Amino acid sequence: MSGPETRTPREGYEGTGPGAITPDGCAVEVYTRLPAGDEPDVIASAVPAGASLLELGCGTGRVTHPLLERGFAVTAVDESPRMLEHVRGARTVCSPIETLELDERFEVVLLSSFLVHAGDVRVRDALLRACRRHVADDGCVLVQREGEDWHERVPRERRAGGGLIRIAAADPTGDPRVSAIRCEYVFPDATWTQTFLSRRLGREEFEEALAGAGLVVDAYLTEDRTWVRALPAGRRTG
Ligand SMILES: C[S@@+](CC[C@H](N)C(=O)[O-])C[C@H]1O[C@@H](n2cnc3c(N)ncnc32)[C@H](O)[C@@H]1O
Repeated sequence: MSGPETRTPREGYEGTGPGAITPDGCAVEVYTRLPAGDEPDVIASAVPAGASLLELGCGTGRVTHPLLERGFAVTAVDESPRMLEHVRGARTVCSPIETLELDERFEVVLLSSFLVHAGDVRVRDALLRACRRHVADDGCVLVQREGEDWHERVPRERRAGGGLIRIAAADPTGDPRVSAIRCEYVFPDATWTQTFLSRRLGREEFEEALAGAGLVVDAYLTEDRTWVRALPAGRRTG
């Protein structure tokens, strides 16, 4: 498949640069270039080996592919058909996460890439409900959230995949809890930008949002508390 995305951009989200841009402003080409980093290791160390795993917002399969190599059975969901074209070896489902209704439950549901910070609370809550709907009662949900000071610590940048990722600004919006994050991806041959909305989500607020979807924190998996394992509420831990 080629050509632009046909789905309408999400309000407050946009991207510029060559090639297809997803409804949330991501450049498909950028995600084919970025390495997986330590994310597959964080995930693999937090869940049972070989588990069935539902990855929500999988993009081009940057993290999907290393998870498949580690023996997980991955179902990869994204609303962008242009992203999904790059996913190999996993079952793919093209759908918004909010309305996903698979006739199956998974041992692990993965909501990464800070999607839980959606600018619109209704979207965020719908994402978390989709996690709860698709996780087995004895399974777990892994969520990746932003670091505590990310809206203040701008500009900041890092090198990845032969390019530079720069968080150029976190601009105020009409809602004091929401910033418009401006991100630049600078490569030798091309530059892309993405603007997206990010709602601040401190620990208490995050745990309340989980509870609203019938989930409870089991463990913060990393020292910076950006990776979280949550369980269906009511399940006994330990
Ligand atoms: C920032 S990219 C990250 C992709 C991948 N998780 C990674 O880490 O490489 C976000 C991806 O999530 C998808 N996405 C964002 N919001 C979504 C939603 N509500 N439903 C389905 N897909 C969504 C976008 O199309 C995009 O491919």
